[in-house]
Amino acid sequence: MKLLFIGDVSGPPGRMIVQSELPRLIDEEGIDFTIANGENSAGGFGMHCRAFHELHDAGVDAFTMGNHTWDKKDIHTLLKEQDCIVRPANYNTEQPGLGWRVFGVGDKQLAVINLLGTVNMDPVADNPFKAADAIIKQLDTPYILVDFHAETTSEKIALGWYLDGRVSAVVGTHTHVQTNDARILPRGTGYLTDAGMTGPRDSVLGVDKNIIIDRFVNGSKQRFELAYGDRQFNGVIIDLDERGRCRDIRAVNFWQPAL
Ligand SMILES: [Fe+2]
Repeated sequence: MKLLFIGDVSGPPGRMIVQSELPRLIDEEGIDFTIANGENSAGGFGMHCRAFHELHDAGVDAFTMGNHTWDKKDIHTLLKEQDCIVRPANYNTEQPGLGWRVFGVGDKQLAVINLLGTVNMDPVADNPFKAADAIIKQLDTPYILVDFHAETTSEKIALGWYLDGRVSAVVGTHTHVQTNDARILPRGTGYLTDAGMTGPRDSVLGVDKNIIIDRFVNGSKQRFELAYGDRQFNGVIIDLDERGRCRDIRAVNFWQPAL
């Protein structure tokens, strides 16, 4: 089973490069199932109906979310009506939506789990390690992908080791910077600390760079605005064997100029 996971899709630039490049990637790489982190796909914070449908129509099969899940009001409708969105399992559990879902991929079942980190994160979620234990216990498939939406490298790496041999892959999101540490852990779990950000390339984590520079230089409190211009695509391709173990994991990173 070959999976493509797309790092945090940010605003219209992120959606544009997914729309233009995803069909080619699926075809060229023989991708069976595509998952995207969509928590910033509306335009920085949250996901609205337009962002969901553009990405879904482009070939994204499932969505994971993060700390900005509830920033746009559309998400309440989307979580009720769309069964391909997975929101954090260890936060706001009384709200609609599920923190893990099982998808049919050919004749196999793929479980997708979304967890929020707790270190330097706002809001503070429940313990993601224990949440993962509780979910895995209920699963009846060896094909399990975890999107761990967290700030610190240490918390992400620790979860990777903690779940080694129990899930197919642990992929991090949230920092918007792709890490260069894709590997297969000793018991067969594919691991990448952060898949990166799919969106505006000449930016600070997706935001207009001049706004952020002004914050650091002058202490200004300008509202964050999404950057535009050249677009980057960040993600990771994960190949799983018949036992659900990872046999190959490779980061994907390319960009296209704005026309
Ligand atoms: Fe985030």
